[in-house]
Amino acid sequence: LRQRGVFYTQQRKIIYHHYFKTNSPLIQSKRKSTKDKISLFSKYKTTMKKTILVTGGTGFIGSHTTVELQNAGYDVVIVDNLSNSQADVVDGIEKITGIRPAFEEVDCCDLAGLEAVFQKYPGIQGIIHFAASKAVGESVEKPLMYYENNLLSLINLLKLMPKYDVKGIIFSSSCTVYGQPDPENLPVTEEAPIKKAESPYGNTKQINEEIVQDYVKSGAPISAILLRYFNPIGSHPSGIIGEMPNGVPANLIPYLTQTAIGIRPCLSVFGDDYDTPDGSCIRDFIYVLDLAKAHVAAMARILEGKNTEPVEIYNVGTGKGVSVFELINTFEKCTGVKLNYKVAPRRPGDIEKVWGNVDKANKVLGWKAVHTLEEALSSAWNWQKVLRERGIM
Ligand code: WQD
Repeated sequence: LRQRGVFYTQQRKIIYHHYFKTNSPLIQSKRKSTKDKISLFSKYKTTMKKTILVTGGTGFIGSHTTVELQNAGYDVVIVDNLSNSQADVVDGIEKITGIRPAFEEVDCCDLAGLEAVFQKYPGIQGIIHFAASKAVGESVEKPLMYYENNLLSLINLLKLMPKYDVKGIIFSSSCTVYGQPDPENLPVTEEAPIKKAESPYGNTKQINEEIVQDYVKSGAPISAILLRYFNPIGSHPSGIIGEMPNGVPANLIPYLTQTAIGIRPCLSVFGDDYDTPDGSCIRDFIYVLDLAKAHVAAMARILEGKNTEPVEIYNVGTGKGVSVFELINTFEKCTGVKLNYKVAPRRPGDIEKVWGNVDKANKVLGWKAVHTLEEALSSAWNWQKVLRERGIM
């Protein structure tokens, strides 16, 4: 087989080594003809577990996505620099699935360190790229850190993909690329115009999307799917992994649950004078479990060669707009906890109302959010109580 030059890539060498050098079925069945061996080989290759590199895999969405990838039968290699997460999240993932993902503490901005991961795990077939700085407010104070971290990490991954025969990348984008959609464009579709970013963080998402598009247009032998998230909330129902904001949370849900448990005295609702039914902002709050499953569907679409474009874009939300006041009322109803909150001035840079048209993800990607807002909020409250029981916060 080797004389026939069947093995071109490292991947095939790995399979060759495993298949023909170890005590595999083939070695035992000396009597099999070469034809049978080839068909066994190709069966082995298709059934061989696929390895996915998850950057930022100890983070909030990355850890939940790793769980769903493992549940779907993938092997996972996590790369994370632990700048905004803890290594014991890997223990939590193993506790949930019974499978410990490989973990490499590497900064994606370190090209040599990142390349060493591809050399150590030659079977990587796909990448899901979460690793990025994501605090809107912080990005205004430290723009250079945001541009360097969020752009260079993606560029390094794209550089390495052809060299290591990696077929596809799923990029974690955001509804922030739409800015404030015009009223006639709500719910917002993937074709809605991209508006000038309100923050360096949002701008890095827009620039990253363009980097992927331009790289593929230049003939790079890869496929990409850009997932534009709306507002991911909640935590794994097991209470073993969840959102772990550093310091004072900027996002609504962690601040809300920390207020409910008494860490924060009062939740400020940033503005009740918006042009919305109850005056508070409207968002599309999606349970992180649904969001994680969207990544598995996107990865499978590429690895099974089902993508019809080299770069595809999908909104990942529930398709429903919920106001801040509605969310607070839903939280109180589904948890029985009375929340202490007050109306405060608007927060600069806040979008008034944005929620997604998710028909394309439903019909083309074959994915749909199935959990309710009540389930998401109950899981967030459950997680907050677990953190209290563990003495973490
Ligand atoms: C939601 C609403 C606030 C805190 C950000 C990122 C976006 C995405 C999700 C990743 C707003 C209000 C908030 C508080 C409040 N991330 N609020 N009191 O700003 O919609 O989006 O996270 O993809 O990219 O920009 O999320 O949770 O900060 O705010 O009233 O203490 O809650 O005004 O209307 P946001 P958020």
